[in-house]
Amino acid sequence: MTQSLTLDSISAHYGSTQVLENLSLAVGEGELVSLLGASGCGKTTTLRLVAGFLQPTSGTITLGGRDLTRLPPHQRDIGLVFQNYALFPHLSVADNVGFGLKQRGISGDAKTKRVGAMLDRVGLAHLADRLPAALSGGQKQRVALARALVIEPPLLMFDEPLSNLDAKLRIDMRVEIRQLQRANGTTSVYVTHDQEEAFSISDRVAIMHAGRIMQLDTPEILYQRPANAFVARFVGFENLIAMKVVERDGAKITAEMAGGIRLTLPLEQFGAIPDSFILACRADGLQVTDNAAMEGIPATLGLRTYLGRAYQYQAETPAGALIANGPLTRPLDAGVTAKLVPVPEQCTILAPEAV
Ligand SMILES: Nc1ncnc2c1ncn2[C@@H]1O[C@H](COP(=O)(O)OP(=O)(O)O)[C@@H](O)[C@H]1O
Ligand SMILES: [Mg+2]
Repeated sequence: MTQSLTLDSISAHYGSTQVLENLSLAVGEGELVSLLGASGCGKTTTLRLVAGFLQPTSGTITLGGRDLTRLPPHQRDIGLVFQNYALFPHLSVADNVGFGLKQRGISGDAKTKRVGAMLDRVGLAHLADRLPAALSGGQKQRVALARALVIEPPLLMFDEPLSNLDAKLRIDMRVEIRQLQRANGTTSVYVTHDQEEAFSISDRVAIMHAGRIMQLDTPEILYQRPANAFVARFVGFENLIAMKVVERDGAKITAEMAGGIRLTLPLEQFGAIPDSFILACRADGLQVTDNAAMEGIPATLGLRTYLGRAYQYQAETPAGALIANGPLTRPLDAGVTAKLVPVPEQCTILAPEAV
């Protein structure tokens, strides 16, 4: 029943504004892929194209190998869950959930059974007769979820479904959504601007920017091995340092940054290192020490903040302003001269053209 989705070179515009440019995306059977990016990057537009509310100017959309591109929305059979629930206010919880079944000609006992089973699964059986106005936000979102799932669609799409809920409920609901999606094995596209939500719920995440997918990978790969500077910054690599290799020596290289500062880096950790590259380090991957004998980036420390697990420092260096962490046991004061020592396991390397 569940089917794979492909978007092939999709472009779309509103009036004269191009919003998506040659966007391609493949979501496997039963897979949950999130579209993650800042407001305005084109996430909702992508869903609207798949749902059929908007026509692409070029490109093809298929579901289970069937070309959907020119089909009207009601022939696409896609389950949709929105931020604002979109429940029918005059219908009870049970009738809201049963609405799509009725439209598909399923009525009587068959309908009652399916609605009942679905309400059980989302924990709302006791509220079957209530009207939406008498439900909390979390309950409304469960009704919307049940309504989308009960028709057993080949594809589910979620547009920021948890944005109206408070923080605790958001976390509970995303676990529930994931469990239901897994249990049904429904191919899903999930839109959010929240990185933690996307990473926790998805098989793979597409990081979007200005109508394009910058990288589509598993959360682990995105977090540890971003493919370009945009994604690196997005996932929290605060420090991007341009470097050039000046010496290759078996298992290690020596590379130079602005100000003639040199570092030796183990090839083992990074694989091949091109002659020009960007060393990307999170603050945790640049350790502050006042031991002048250490090899590292000379720095003058600025503001120190307490993170609980470490101190974090703003640091001025010949390669510009950097952010580095230091141990709780040795808080250092602003103005102190220190070294920032890269921790190779916590750093990654990017191609320079990616900046
Ligand atoms: N109906 C519309 N008419 C004109 N421009 C629109 C319309 N809907 C969205 N846009 C523009 O298209 C871009 C992408 O919007 P959208 O897909 O809603 O972004 P997101 O969901 O990622 O926040 C934005 O610049 C937005 O202002
Ligand atoms: Mg949106």
